[in-house]
Amino acid sequence: MGDYTWEQAGHTHFSSRRKSRWFRLCTLIILASLLYLSRNLWFRTHPSTEELARRAGYLNLCRYIKTPSGPPLNFHARSKSDRFSPEAKPTLIKNATIWTSGKNGTEVIYGDLLLLKGLIRGVGAIAPSLVSGLDIEVVDANGAWVTPGLVDLHSHLGVGSAPELDGNQTGADDTNSVKAPILPWLRSLDGLNTHDDGYELARSGGVTTAQILPGSANNIGGQAFIIKLRETTERTPSSMLVEPPYTLNGSHFDHNLPPRWRHMNTIHTYQKIERGFKSNTGENPSRVYSMSRMDTGWNFRQAYDTARKIRDQQDDFCAKAEAGAWRELKDSTFPESLQWEALVDVLRGRVKLSVHCYEAVDLDVIVRLSNEFKFPVASFHHAGQTYLVPDLLRKTWGGMPSIALFAANFRKKREAYRGSEFAPRILASDGFPIVMKSDHSVINSRYLLHEAAQAHYFGLPTNVALLSITATPADAMGLGHRIGHIEEGYDADVIVWDSHPLSLAATPQQVFIDGIPQLKAPEVSIKPFAFQSPPNTPDFDKEAADASAYQGLPPLEPRSVQHSIFTNVSSLYTRSTDDISVQDYPQSVIVHDGKIVCSGECSRHSSDDKHAEIINLEGGSIVLGLTIYGPPLGLTEIRLEPSTSDGTVFNPLTGNLPAILEDSLIRAIDGLQFGGRNTLLAYRAGVTAGVTAPSGSFVQGSSTAFSLGASNLLRNGSIQSDVAVHVAITKNSAHSVSTQIAALRAMLLGKGSDAMLSSVRAGTATLVVDVNSADIMASLLRLKREYETQLGKTLRMTFAGAIESHLIASDIAHAGVSVIVTQPKPFPTTWDQRRFLGGPPLTADSLVSALLAAGVQVGVGLQDEFEARNLRWEVARLALASNGTIDQTTALALATVNVEKALGIEVDMPQDLVAYKGGDAFGFEGKPVAVISAQFGRTDLFE
Ligand SMILES: *[C@@H]1O[C@H](CO)[C@@H](O)[C@H](O)[C@H]1NC(C)=O
Ligand SMILES: *[C@@H]1O[C@H](CO)[C@@H](O)[C@H](O)[C@H]1NC(C)=O
Ligand SMILES: *[C@@H]1O[C@H](CO)[C@@H](O)[C@H](O)[C@H]1NC(C)=O
Ligand SMILES: *[C@@H]1O[C@H](CO)[C@@H](O)[C@H](O)[C@H]1NC(C)=O
Ligand SMILES: *[C@@H]1O[C@H](CO)[C@@H](O)[C@H](O)[C@H]1NC(C)=O
Repeated sequence: MGDYTWEQAGHTHFSSRRKSRWFRLCTLIILASLLYLSRNLWFRTHPSTEELARRAGYLNLCRYIKTPSGPPLNFHARSKSDRFSPEAKPTLIKNATIWTSGKNGTEVIYGDLLLLKGLIRGVGAIAPSLVSGLDIEVVDANGAWVTPGLVDLHSHLGVGSAPELDGNQTGADDTNSVKAPILPWLRSLDGLNTHDDGYELARSGGVTTAQILPGSANNIGGQAFIIKLRETTERTPSSMLVEPPYTLNGSHFDHNLPPRWRHMNTIHTYQKIERGFKSNTGENPSRVYSMSRMDTGWNFRQAYDTARKIRDQQDDFCAKAEAGAWRELKDSTFPESLQWEALVDVLRGRVKLSVHCYEAVDLDVIVRLSNEFKFPVASFHHAGQTYLVPDLLRKTWGGMPSIALFAANFRKKREAYRGSEFAPRILASDGFPIVMKSDHSVINSRYLLHEAAQAHYFGLPTNVALLSITATPADAMGLGHRIGHIEEGYDADVIVWDSHPLSLAATPQQVFIDGIPQLKAPEVSIKPFAFQSPPNTPDFDKEAADASAYQGLPPLEPRSVQHSIFTNVSSLYTRSTDDISVQDYPQSVIVHDGKIVCSGECSRHSSDDKHAEIINLEGGSIVLGLTIYGPPLGLTEIRLEPSTSDGTVFNPLTGNLPAILEDSLIRAIDGLQFGGRNTLLAYRAGVTAGVTAPSGSFVQGSSTAFSLGASNLLRNGSIQSDVAVHVAITKNSAHSVSTQIAALRAMLLGKGSDAMLSSVRAGTATLVVDVNSADIMASLLRLKREYETQLGKTLRMTFAGAIESHLIASDIAHAGVSVIVTQPKPFPTTWDQRRFLGGPPLTADSLVSALLAAGVQVGVGLQDEFEARNLRWEVARLALASNGTIDQTTALALATVNVEKALGIEVDMPQDLVAYKGGDAFGFEGKPVAVISAQFGRTDLFE
């Protein structure tokens, strides 16, 4: 530039050259300016390498947030599982009946199954080239049923604790945080205990994969994770995960990887959380909150709105980035929030959302929210009233959700009161994908299969029932590309069963997870031929239609007749006091006023009675009515609604016993109520009598025996007003075990004048002790001996619960103490129960078969009022699992004469009989259609 100035100044006197010089000068100036401008432009359009990387990163992130979740396209080209472990030896399962879950659950392939490197590599006819040269384990299935491993869509396994050991932070185990209602940033993985007793039990029932959800104490409980249920060599929670999302280690992962499904649960219900707890560090109780549905609704909207704002800011950012408006983004970063990122992903449709929701009022809110904020719902859980509102569910944004249900666990709270055993079949016929789930440990995950089998019994088609615990939940969790099917390229999770999986008490012979056998020494015998095909289930079309018509509360009272004739009867069980006898093929049975007047050749009687109701049992049986002990039937209607129940009795150990009670025991008969839904459902399922004790800790009071079919106490309701005196002794109490036993001793040796207590002291009534620990039972045997030695009288004692009683079975037999097993499906809820006997396939003996073998007088009861109706299946299960040591008559005795004897019932039990159509009492083919009631002098009909 300086040169030109010089030229300009020094050579202006040459006029002809001046013109051209000026011209040159101008040109140069223009050129220089252009150069300057283009240099600037260059730098503007060619940013630094760091800036370039930053922009590329953002563009990649912007592409990533729009990429749908799912497996990579070449997923099935894999030749080895990402979960492969060398313990998985090449395995050939020969001669199997393989239910693949293909063709809508109707495909069955007869042949072999090849498992290699954690994957299924051949189904049916295996090419010899695939196995040649392999050191292969051969399993001969002998024609047994083989299915994919079971998938539990709703479990709290590992976050809840079995046995319960949570520092007594009541309700505050790792299932729930009680810090706030909205907690989408919490992760169930952070609380996953790898040493929970539930894993082995769940595996032994064929469950191979489970979604571990945070609990239901919140509106948004947190992120769920999918685990496989085998032990890993690494022994960590993380190594149990199946396809965990990349967000696991933070939000700054490689966005070139295809996104994987994430999982979360939200809960819409009336939340009453009074479980604030004192932490061990002495902090104040954390927040205690109670919310109406309106609060809950707003909590959701506020949370989703927060996430929506962040999502919109991200989308704005990306729109600018994609348009190249980097100058506008010069000072901004991608809008992110570690707290809200998971909920933002819900709005982006990248989260398989599980919504815990029962009632129409709540389902309505969720469907409305899903449309307001535009997010899909993968599955509604519990979903008690979904069968009543199919049109609403179809409006869920993003398509029809799966519905995850219990088979029969209803009525515990208002929102579950209208639940129906027919919901699965009704929803399936409306086209919804049906999932049966455990909510472990609400239902022990080991019996997930039993949920599907019950739904099948009540009318869910066979293919849909099997899909409901395999492919359908796998799809609902976004893992349908690798689990829930038997197909080449899928994970080697397969079960070899001992019978058709929908038959009663089907049990795995072996369980493979990632190709690794899980049962070390399976103790299981193959079930009889009749159990090798799906049960031919009864017709419940009318009951299902009624469930809908009456919105979940169909009338349950029977229709009564005086005279009835049963035809086509294949067996008739009767009893005289303690003896049960069976008459085979009586064909017809004639009943007048609740009494059998003829069985067998009855033509004369039948011609006598033109007005009799004729019931064709289609080869079914007439069997003794069962007696239920354990559930608070008759004292509880809706367990979590205090106004519907008798309530809890005072605990004398707390010292606040009102003086007016003096030393009298509380009597269950005084609080008895009839006509409850659990009571009538049990009656309609063959349970005709109940013995119930008052509910309480330590001294419960005096139990009563009553008729389930009675309309009230004054109409033949009572069988024996006072049966036994009940106490509970447990480590799980605010008072020491030694204090409880000392108090019991004082009660027995003391002066109190209560009539029932006096009968116990005199040896004419039974003391029933609710107890589980073998050590406490041993102390009680000592107390019995002490009492008898000191007073020279007999102390009649029975243990109820008694889950560890096999450990001292011969001592119990020797002491003449009876046992009522109330958990025929054992689960170690508390420390007192940890040394339970698993039964097949974990141990050859069940608790009941072990006690019978030791000569103990054993009865069977149950715990929960909803399951009272399942009593016949529970005793039948024990028989089926006993390898022939428990026959049907013994099974029947367990729930009739044995349990009555153990309780010390003194009166003659009413000779009630139950008629089953199409099958017997001991499987999934018979349908209870009538009670022949000697006591009421009538026949009660259910159809
Ligand atoms: C699957 O089977 C169920 C029950 O048999 C049936 O209702 C349904 O329509 C079938 N679905 C398809 C896609 O075939
Ligand atoms: C498969 O097992 C069944 C049942 O044990 C048996 O009858 C059949 O012969 C077996 N088939 C083969 C090919 O081994
Ligand atoms: C991060 O998470 C992935 C699963 O998404 C896992 O495979 C990987 O090992 C983790 N990385 C680290 C460093 O823990
Ligand atoms: C079942 O009983 C038979 C003999 O009655 C016995 O050979 C077999 O080992 C038993 N099976 C199991 C699993 O205990
Ligand atoms: C556990 O805590 C609750 C509430 O603080 C208390 O009522 C209960 O007695 C405690 N249980 C034991 C075994 O200490």
